Amino acid sequence: MKIPQNIIDQIKYQADIVDVIGEYVHLKKAGNRHVGLCPFHEDKKTPSFSVSGDIGVYHCFGCKKSGNVFSFLKDYLGLSFNESVEYLAKRYNIIIPSVEEKSESSSRTDLAFKALKISAEFFNKLLYTKEADIAIKYFKKRDFSDNLIAQFLLGYSPDSYDKLNKYLSQYQIDEQSMIDSGLLVVREDGKKYDRFRGRAMFAIKDIIGRVIGFGARQITDEPDQPKYINSPQSLVYDKSKVLYGLYEAKNAIRNEKSAILVEGYADTLTLHQSDIRNVVATSGTAFTQDQLNLLGRYTKSLFLVFDSDSAGKKATDRGIELALENGFEVKIARLPAGEDPDSLVRNNGPEPFRYHIANAVNFIDYMANEIKKEGAMDNPSSKADAVRSIVSLISKIPDMLQHDFYLSRIADIFDLSENQLKLIYNEKQELVNKAKKNIDSNKIQPDLKQLSEVQNERIINDEFVIDLEEILPEEKLVLQYALQGPKIFNYILNDLNLKESNFLSETGKLIYSIILEYSDSLNITQELTDDETINAKILSSITELAISILKPSENWEKFGSELKDPDYKKVLKDAKTRLELIYIDNELAEIRNMMKIADNDHQDRLLIRQSELIRKKDSLLSQLVN
Ligand code: UTP
Ligand code: MN
Repeated sequence: MKIPQNIIDQIKYQADIVDVIGEYVHLKKAGNRHVGLCPFHEDKKTPSFSVSGDIGVYHCFGCKKSGNVFSFLKDYLGLSFNESVEYLAKRYNIIIPSVEEKSESSSRTDLAFKALKISAEFFNKLLYTKEADIAIKYFKKRDFSDNLIAQFLLGYSPDSYDKLNKYLSQYQIDEQSMIDSGLLVVREDGKKYDRFRGRAMFAIKDIIGRVIGFGARQITDEPDQPKYINSPQSLVYDKSKVLYGLYEAKNAIRNEKSAILVEGYADTLTLHQSDIRNVVATSGTAFTQDQLNLLGRYTKSLFLVFDSDSAGKKATDRGIELALENGFEVKIARLPAGEDPDSLVRNNGPEPFRYHIANAVNFIDYMANEIKKEGAMDNPSSKADAVRSIVSLISKIPDMLQHDFYLSRIADIFDLSENQLKLIYNEKQELVNKAKKNIDSNKIQPDLKQLSEVQNERIINDEFVIDLEEILPEEKLVLQYALQGPKIFNYILNDLNLKESNFLSETGKLIYSIILEYSDSLNITQELTDDETINAKILSSITELAISILKPSENWEKFGSELKDPDYKKVLKDAKTRLELIYIDNELAEIRNMMKIADNDHQDRLLIRQSELIRKKDSLLSQLVN
């Protein structure tokens, strides 16, 4: 869909970048900007991620990622440009007029989303009709409240082969879109029929709340039917990348600083209804790396609460390994045999469940317990195997400092000497290091290649020479002010009459020349962010300048109180004067060098130039004092 430019401008104008990013990153106000831990790289201790509401950009001083509200939605949530516009329009109640002229692929995805949304609302609406008695009865039996049903968009799919198809057709959804979204099945003979029929429907949403698929539970006792039928892999649904309930759970996960991972739809819903909201479900698939990454946006602390059957045990082992490898803290809660979170809470209320969470154990205690249960502790060789498998998990924890802690825990539980353990540990560690080395040596090749590519680019495209360290403090100051808005930029350009030639460093010259091209713009940094021809490194450097707190040089600090609200005109004038002074000093140094080799005639001219420069220098110095 082509969105009119004026709507995009309106959205850009109204969207509050602090508010939008604040939903995903915990931000604190610091001066005229907000700071937080960078969501794009491991940012553990010091918040290096800055967001400026005034300029409408973010920048990470660590990983150098930067951009505006659209690039955040693109890089963080994986939204396309159109999707981010729609996301923001929804958030700020801006209506996008529909315009024809659709691009092929984006309109197919758009239509699939539309089909899913209309279907979910249709299934939900049906619950209020006689036809859905059987589903209502089922939800009541599960104690799902009306609120829960509405919030999670539960519903009923009619017991018919074409009712949904016909319903969607009224909304100009064609059959291709129904197939794209997994709602319609095409039989081998070409006949088409609704996939979900006569079932209780659980809408599966993505991270921003769009319906992307369904889980459909059997509610009749017809034999030989699968308990759940799920949406197939589709244009918009990839089950390995989705966690059921994450959209509804994400705020709670952030607040609780942990997530509870369960197996099923019902577990998620029952817990949510009991005010335990930091819950998501894998929905019957093996826990994947993608799912873990998704969770990692909100927390690095995980409770695994899988069923106590053998499938649940397997899922737990897999969850532990993935979590540890990725630097998550993981605890395991074991429910009484035969119970899952849903049945436990439904029958006994939330307290026993909370108790199990509060008493969740670390992975070593959990594994030791499992091994004891299997009776393996009494047999030296199976005991040794067990220890080896635990030690191998420990060696996968990225934070080596934790290794000793866990090793001594094993020594305790398995009654082993530290020496014996160290032996096994070193054995494993060697394997791990070897594996790492392989990975590293694989890396070297592409790195070298990249380097030479960069160097090539440098020759053809000197835009690559961006080194903020190289910029003089005075230059930096001027550039930072220039990026603060049209009022100051105008002053720099017209009153101060600052030119590219006033800059001494190549980097300073380059950046100034770029922003000069945007001199008409109200928000240079924003405009640059939208300009696809601008190199990412330059953009990142400029954003870094725009977002850095202004500090008018070390000397300025001596003036104490003036620093609070420095008169930008004075500061900028001084900066320009200082740059001129540095320029003169450079020229004077050059003259001194030339004097050594110059003939008499030449020396005279140099002396004249020298005294000119010294006079100019004096006058500049006196300007500085005033
Ligand atoms: P369970 O069999 O434990 O289902 O499977 P449940 O959620 O507890 O459902 P109730 O309580 O019996 O109603 C756990 C999860 O595995 C997936 C579903 O996501 C389910 O929630 N599953 C299970 C399927 O996808 N297909 C199936 O046939 C069974
Ligand atoms: Mn169940």
